[in-house]
Amino acid sequence: MVIKKICCLGAGYVGGPTCSVMALKCPDITVTVVDKSKDRISQWNSDKLPIYEPGLDEVVRECRGRNLFFSTDIETAIKEADLIFISVNTPTKTFGNGKGRAADLKYVEGAARMIAEVATGNKIVVEKSTVPVRAAESILNILRANNRPGVSYQILSNPEFLAEGTAIDDLLYADRVLIGGEETPEGHAAIEELCWVYEHWISRRNIITTNTWSSELSKLAANAFLAQRISSINSLSAVCEATGADISEVARAVGLDSRIGSKFLQASVGFGGSCFQKDILNLVYICECLNLPEVAAYWQQVIDMNEYQKSRFSAKVIESLFNTVSDKQITILGFAFKKDTGDTRESPAIHVCTTLLDEGAKLHIYDPKVESSQIVDDLTHPSVTEEPEKVKNSITIHNDPYKATMGTHAIVLCTEWDEFMTLDYERIYKSMMKPAHIFDGRKILDHDSLIKIGFQVQTIGKRLARPLLARSWGSSHQA
Ligand code: NAD
Ligand code: UDX
Repeated sequence: MVIKKICCLGAGYVGGPTCSVMALKCPDITVTVVDKSKDRISQWNSDKLPIYEPGLDEVVRECRGRNLFFSTDIETAIKEADLIFISVNTPTKTFGNGKGRAADLKYVEGAARMIAEVATGNKIVVEKSTVPVRAAESILNILRANNRPGVSYQILSNPEFLAEGTAIDDLLYADRVLIGGEETPEGHAAIEELCWVYEHWISRRNIITTNTWSSELSKLAANAFLAQRISSINSLSAVCEATGADISEVARAVGLDSRIGSKFLQASVGFGGSCFQKDILNLVYICECLNLPEVAAYWQQVIDMNEYQKSRFSAKVIESLFNTVSDKQITILGFAFKKDTGDTRESPAIHVCTTLLDEGAKLHIYDPKVESSQIVDDLTHPSVTEEPEKVKNSITIHNDPYKATMGTHAIVLCTEWDEFMTLDYERIYKSMMKPAHIFDGRKILDHDSLIKIGFQVQTIGKRLARPLLARSWGSSHQA
């Protein structure tokens, strides 16, 4: 079979950018991205795409209407496609067996059932969503149990490794593409078909083929390893604050060992994003189900350390503001889970804001890309507050960082947006209440110059000149 038409179920952060790059690089293939959500599809067909991702607008502009289409006509897209990506969401289960840990596969199952209902001919179905090991088996069971004459399926696992904020580059210059399939002649043939698609722009030596289960587990493993590095460096940041060592210097010294490497050693307020926590919880759950409690506990610790880091940072803010933030005006710079994205899923800013709101603070929030409605939704969600109206009355969302800082007692920096490094902090200092505090949760600001301006500065993993005023108010942290 020569693949002429590709369909992707799920027009989200993965399906959208992945298929856009595929369409860009494979002009001989028609790529149709479909979604149940009419809103999402109409945004993909508009000038304001539903997600912010550097470089994405240009790619979509070039391909949309040529060989890239966004549609809600799922049935036709499935029927016509030779190859179907399943790129739907796989959130953590919120109820029932495995609640709070297992991946909820209802959307994957829904996608498989849709394919089973309408497919005609031979289809290669590709799991792009991140799923538990052996999920492909469940998909195949659904497809084969509903099989009709003349229809046959091959299931492949092709996990996605892109990171938000750098998705287009990650897709264009992927370190590797991973494809897992059945170890049968038909399985190998299907793997070859998908390899051919990627070979339009990825060198064959960077395309790894494995069996399906290794491929599925490798995705969970990669995310677990990345998150584990962040939790490791964050755990040491607490040691630095207690001893006078500097976590950036430690990270540099450790990272220069070529066996360790320097990436993903940036201490922070904690990791966020839709993947790390969800995928590690999923791994932990799988280990428990496999009766491997020690392995489960090992990976659970990565999550626990991340919770500790977020709480530790929030507690530091409160403690430094004389142990009370009740009715204090506090600026939150950055709400996205990292820079260059408007995504707030599992953003550490939500944890920080919720803690401060619980203590009675009034928040002034600024993020260059996150929609105001998203901030309100995140902070009034039933999982974080029982008093949504009170929260709404305690937050003001600004579209200008200078307005967001005017008259406030403290700035809490939660996202490492580049623009925060070049703000006019002299001007900001003048407009703030005194003493003016800055808590740099990302270690991106020039702390010496902020101290010179007059700010009381605190950051992660480094003890800065201790604010004189806070000193006299007794602190539980070791001085
Ligand atoms: P998302 O929530 O942004 O998008 C998923 C989309 O699927 C939604 O728009 C939803 O409406 C749609 N959908 C659900 N069921 C459908 C169905 N039956 N038919 C058509 N559309 C359907 O999710 P995402 O961030 O793109 O993640 C998708 C998968 O990729 C997840 O498994 C995730 O773990 C994985 N992943 C995400 C990232 C990332 O950076 N976001 C990176 C790698 C892997
Ligand atoms: C992650 C994986 O990197 C990607 O391969 C996978 O496909 C999806 O999950 P993403 O969550 O989009 O990508 O962003 P990532 O760059 O991994 O950052 C995740 C979180 O860790 C962010 O909150 C980020 O700020 C934080 N982080 C990252 C740190 O705190 N320190 C670091 O050194 C790196």
